Amino acid sequence: MLAGYAPRTPRRAPRLLILGTAVALVGGACGSPPTPTSPLPGSVVPQATGGPSTSADYRDASLSPRARAAALLAQMTLDEKIGQMTQLENGSVDTAGVSQTQFLLGSVLSGGDGTPPENSPDAWYQMVDAYQQAALGTGIGIPILYGIDAVHGNSKVVGATIFPHNVGLGALDDPVLVKAIGRATAVEMNAIGVRWNFGPVVAVPQDVRWGRTYEAYGEDPALVERLSGAFIAGLQGTDLAAQDAVAATAKHFVGDGGTGWGSSTAQGSSIDQGVTSADDATLRSIHLAPYRAAIDGGVRIVMASFSSTNAGKVTGDHHLLTDVLKGELGFSGFVVSDWGAVDQVNADYPSAVAQSIMAGIDMVMVPYDAARFQAAVRQGLASGAISQARIDDAVLRILQVKFEMGLFEQPMPLAGRADAVGASADRDLARAAVAGSAVLLKAGAGVLPIAPSTGSVLLAGPAANDIGRQSGGWTMTWQGGTGPITPGTTIADGLRARLGDRLLYEENGAFDAGVSADVGIVVVGEFPYAEGRGDSATLALPPDEVALVAAMRPRVKRLVVVVLSGRPVMLDGVLETADAVVAAWLPGTEGGGLADVLLGDVPFHGTTPYTWPDTPEDAPRTGRGPCDGAVFPVGFGLDASGRPLGPAACPGATP
Ligand code: BGC
Ligand code: BGC
Repeated sequence: MLAGYAPRTPRRAPRLLILGTAVALVGGACGSPPTPTSPLPGSVVPQATGGPSTSADYRDASLSPRARAAALLAQMTLDEKIGQMTQLENGSVDTAGVSQTQFLLGSVLSGGDGTPPENSPDAWYQMVDAYQQAALGTGIGIPILYGIDAVHGNSKVVGATIFPHNVGLGALDDPVLVKAIGRATAVEMNAIGVRWNFGPVVAVPQDVRWGRTYEAYGEDPALVERLSGAFIAGLQGTDLAAQDAVAATAKHFVGDGGTGWGSSTAQGSSIDQGVTSADDATLRSIHLAPYRAAIDGGVRIVMASFSSTNAGKVTGDHHLLTDVLKGELGFSGFVVSDWGAVDQVNADYPSAVAQSIMAGIDMVMVPYDAARFQAAVRQGLASGAISQARIDDAVLRILQVKFEMGLFEQPMPLAGRADAVGASADRDLARAAVAGSAVLLKAGAGVLPIAPSTGSVLLAGPAANDIGRQSGGWTMTWQGGTGPITPGTTIADGLRARLGDRLLYEENGAFDAGVSADVGIVVVGEFPYAEGRGDSATLALPPDEVALVAAMRPRVKRLVVVVLSGRPVMLDGVLETADAVVAAWLPGTEGGGLADVLLGDVPFHGTTPYTWPDTPEDAPRTGRGPCDGAVFPVGFGLDASGRPLGPAACPGATP
């Protein structure tokens, strides 16, 4: 146990407030005086004074997390309770001045673009530790939970291992490996002081035009269940309080992957955050199924979806959040809303807050303005729109998870483990995942694997030598980026390590006239994107990169095209021109894994986790047969000799 981390004796004032990364002592700044609060109706809540239950002490680690949460709840002021329900993004806590710092908080998050000024493991740890120390000095001293989107490795941190995005892991379909990735991710997260991961995405996308397709494992609910369950098990381990365990989040509840093209009203989106109008049976069989498995697998946090059903925004839907998730599915952890999603429930903010909380949201990802949120909760309580019982239930759930995580005993993971970030064992794991996730879509006879003894190999395409391009969105930043955004091995690096000087790389294919070779490789790819900005009506690859395929053709006997994408894309100008086509998805930092399959060290194993639609309009899949409007059915992939590893290509698909 770390010195100085013992929970403090309950006290009321003065309060310690978070001021940047420093902690300042300010007397009575938190507005109203402590408000006595009532216990949960109908529950046996130990009281602070009087009665036989006075012995219940939340600091007593021999009690159950539930009993400790109840004991603590009974001592809390209304300010403290509302504080636990508040999640702010780090910029709003850190830089927005004193007005944003005078609030008790249950959680701080780094959103897609939230990092410490210097993005290093140590700077992350110090930032989280500063928030934690400030929280421990505030009121009763309830530790915060710090959360990030570590959705393909500890993917916000420069130097971390970036694993393939989930689409690639779906192609690989190896639960043992996915569990190991969860474990590695948890260890790399603990090294930066963070114990809450906003993942896995358990969406079951039914239309690959969605900009979040790559965040999910695939279109088959059984596959999503299998792999998300493995990832949760890896993140959480067998004991949430154990050193290096991280709390997982199943998101986004429910139906985020079922929205219809054109149904979104979110700015810049067409399908992201839209409306899922599936009937109840379909909603359950496709979109709800993974939650049942995740809950059985011990997930303690669920994030509500931005999206709607025909009944309105899920974030304000009592039936789905309370009757179905907490009732029918028996979810006893807490529900966090998505980024500002509560604001979308009603144009009138206090009404939106009341509706969402009464629907079953326990913690609100505000994320900027805590004062406005906390005032809205108070207003709802005063008007009767929000019940005290609902607030108590929300806080009890949040506290219970914090006790289960051992945060009161050890609010911060061990310091000084920055070496774990990007550790070589994790990179080896990622490399194996990259090799295993590559899907061979076309395999001309004798084209692959490339014999290591081959002569010169011509390589073209800017994406062949770009860590940002091969990593996609949610890498360092929300939208991702291009170029050397974090250390790693590009596809070109990986090939060069094997072929040495025999690899001739021209980014734009501008080889000297007359240069030719037995083998040419062109890498073409989507540019990074996240969420609605990745919604695509065309599923098109950049035309100038596709043009490199035709330009390479006359120079080589055997032409291999590697496609980097977050989803099936249109392969005009690729499929008919190349001798072999490899879907590499978004492999992350370990591009060496591609060389491993291309050169035959590892056999091709991957199969597409999404139907490959014939046209963009064929993208919606619910209710359609495997080859209805498809080039390749879900589960399609070839071995190097061209034999299908799963179902055959759809009739007339491969030229
Ligand atoms: C996304 C979530 C994410 C959150 C925090 C939202 O925009 O929908 O998946 O966890 O931001 O970054
Ligand atoms: C944040 C993301 C969030 C998005 C939603 C971004 O600025 O970094 O976490 O998902 O906004 O609009």
